[in-house]
Amino acid sequence: MNFVEAEKVFPWVKEGKGNIVYEAIDRHVESGAGDTVALYYSDGEREESLTFAEIQSKSSQFARGLLQLGIQQGDRVFLFMPRSPDLYIALIGIIRMGAIAGPLFEAFMESAVRDRLQDSGARAIVTTPSLLTRIPQSDLPELAHVIVAGAKEELAAPLHAFEQVMKQPDDPFIQEVSGEDGLYLHYTSGSTGKPKGVLHAHAGLLHQYVSGAVVYDFRPGDKYWCTADPGWITGTSAGIFAPWLHGVSIVVRGGRFRSEDWYATIEKYGVTVWFSAPTAFRMLMAAGDDVPKQFDFSKLRHVLSAGEPLNPEVIRWGEQVLQRRIHDNWWMTETGSTICANRPDIPVRLGSMGKPLPGIHLAIVDSKGNELPPNTMGDLAILPPWPAMMRAIWGNEEKYQSYFRNGWYISGDSAYRDEDGYFWFQGRIDDVINTSGERIGPFEVESKLVEHPAVAEAGVIGIPDPMRGEIIKAFVTLRQGYSPSEELAVQIKQFVKEKLAAHAAPREIEFRSGLPKTRSGKIMRRVLKAWELGLPTGDLSTLEE
Ligand code: WT7
Repeated sequence: MNFVEAEKVFPWVKEGKGNIVYEAIDRHVESGAGDTVALYYSDGEREESLTFAEIQSKSSQFARGLLQLGIQQGDRVFLFMPRSPDLYIALIGIIRMGAIAGPLFEAFMESAVRDRLQDSGARAIVTTPSLLTRIPQSDLPELAHVIVAGAKEELAAPLHAFEQVMKQPDDPFIQEVSGEDGLYLHYTSGSTGKPKGVLHAHAGLLHQYVSGAVVYDFRPGDKYWCTADPGWITGTSAGIFAPWLHGVSIVVRGGRFRSEDWYATIEKYGVTVWFSAPTAFRMLMAAGDDVPKQFDFSKLRHVLSAGEPLNPEVIRWGEQVLQRRIHDNWWMTETGSTICANRPDIPVRLGSMGKPLPGIHLAIVDSKGNELPPNTMGDLAILPPWPAMMRAIWGNEEKYQSYFRNGWYISGDSAYRDEDGYFWFQGRIDDVINTSGERIGPFEVESKLVEHPAVAEAGVIGIPDPMRGEIIKAFVTLRQGYSPSEELAVQIKQFVKEKLAAHAAPREIEFRSGLPKTRSGKIMRRVLKAWELGLPTGDLSTLEE
């Protein structure tokens, strides 16, 4: 399977009209697989499953409900809720009626939610009673509707009960769109500025379908568990659409991480393909090898990892304990689907990200955008276009253009390619932090830190951590009248947790009397990092006194 063949399966994508939801759901119902389970859900207490036919009818109801509220094609409708069957019905319903879905991770606090709704001009958001308080009441003139799933009381506009919105005919309804129309908007971080909205299009389905075939190795009858939350692109592109385009059942686990529960999930559903992240594997490793011995993984055929570098050590653990080789693959929010992978049809090289997908031109380029020979470190770059490539940075053409150099899409990662065409990840070029596979922009954390009354200035970096890959560390100077203390550090960490998100809060705070800055006043994170790691600070010619 490759992109050209995928175009033959879905000819409307290039010229014509259709909808990714038709291909992921309705097509299977029409071909007689309506009774196949599409989604197995459990959170330890509740257990449910939905067939393709049920998702078709329920998401059609939700799509009609949105229409009735006045939502139109191209409008942004956000999702801010824990993983539950309703989340999947709503997501599919939004896309079914031609709106653009904006999935948000449930850990975000009010200001993070506000930034994203404001930037995208969101028209509606779907949430739950417990998260409702984090949806800002002010500053969002375009937010016309807040849909609450599982509300116990009567709601008045702009609030609506999800159950009420669903009161619509359940025969299939689908809005046809063109391949270039908006599908979903995932917010992600860079090293400067607020998070940016990465817009994807329906045509990305060609790529998701190919990744499903050649990287995730989907086969009929598979039970697939991708542990990523739909708030991140892995959770939508690899977690929902790739499998459903292949008619493969997905397993969704709600609730917190517990190693026993994770192993039990694989056993209980007979998971055949499992996609997770290095941090999760390292946590399972840390829980000890006696735990997995109590479970049966005999159905498991293929194991995948993405999001951060996969240590050879973890692959060895997988071989011993799961008796499966973990297959690393590389991509980004912006690439929309897998770009480079240890595909099942090539030998895994421990520590390598594998080889590019067929039809993808991946290369290492220099600072001028010239391709470099093998075994030379440089910028990991892709030759545009590819089917799942982002179509825009929402409302920010300049930011979008800044990704490109001499015709190449520049990833922000450094890497090299060996003589056999395998790619090896080296690190980020910019200051973006990768903690537990989650991408954190230091600027967003710094901005939140300086909102704390005691903080004058802050510089944020990632420092190496054996479990999480990196953890967030903040260097902070204090305002007049405040002095450093353990208590204040705890308070400041708590402040970021409550105002931004728990996963974006610094785990370490170091108080300083001053921070290294350029003459133009920019905090030099590179110098902070060198201090932290005891490395040479490099060129300091731009450092202020
Ligand atoms: C950044 C993108 C898998 C997509 C979801 C993450 C890092 C991603 C790998 C890997 C080493 C990796 C890169 C990349 N990354 N996969 N296999 N090995 N690093 O998407 O949140 O946009 O983050 O994650 O640094 O640029 P994201």
